[in-house]
Amino acid sequence: MKENQRITVPRFTAMKLQGRKISMLTAYDFPTAKMLDEAGVDSILVGDTLAMVIQGQATTLPVTLDEMIYHGRMVSRAVERALVIVDLPFPTNHLGIHATVEHAARILKETEAQAVKLEGGADQAEVISALVNAGIPVMGHVGLRPQSVHTMGGFKVQRDEEVLLNDAKAVAQAGAFGIVLECIPATYAKLITEEIRIPTIGIGAGADCDGQVLVINDMLGLPTDCKPRFVKTYANLESTISDAVKSYCRDVQDGSFPGPEHTFAE
Ligand code: KIV
Repeated sequence: MKENQRITVPRFTAMKLQGRKISMLTAYDFPTAKMLDEAGVDSILVGDTLAMVIQGQATTLPVTLDEMIYHGRMVSRAVERALVIVDLPFPTNHLGIHATVEHAARILKETEAQAVKLEGGADQAEVISALVNAGIPVMGHVGLRPQSVHTMGGFKVQRDEEVLLNDAKAVAQAGAFGIVLECIPATYAKLITEEIRIPTIGIGAGADCDGQVLVINDMLGLPTDCKPRFVKTYANLESTISDAVKSYCRDVQDGSFPGPEHTFAE
């Protein structure tokens, strides 16, 4: 694949066969998505984590379909190469097949993203096939499913190997083109990756997945309430931004900004 070629759903899936690891990050706005795309990330997820990292909510549950579409549109507008995927927000995929297809179709029509992601395993197989039959590419998401945080009793590592394998197989058989594995032991993720033909994208699932995803705010060191063990911080933008703002405030207070170079002559 040429480095600047658009990553379509079939190209994304083919990367597994080519043994090429897939990089994915979340983004929620135009400038961030543009920077990620230009830096060469393979896929951008407009995750429902936007409820937590952008809106400041405690869980992903409150974000609405309209809000996902609003952010999805900004991201798609910025991206030329990466595969753009938008999360179906809670409880869209539990509203019945007709409503789910209608909501997912709104995402594709109104954001121009190429695919949707939904949380769930074997219980979602019928919904996934209906979406795929309607021409809507679907990425699955098993393991820790943040939309089920209350049922799961918190954001916890999921350790039922049989359930996880069964869920991943059901999602793949239903026609999903990829699957996120969140917070599961690395050995289980390795087994799932070997057993299914679609790419596995891990977050807290070890190094043997076909690709990795992180929440952009976490990896850039922007403020967050908690830092999970699986996050690697690649920058410290919180202190960079705080230092810049302190310098600006100082400059305004002591009159050194604006200088002559920032000022218009008559
Ligand atoms: O919503 C999200 O950002 C996600 C990733 C953490 C995979 O689902």
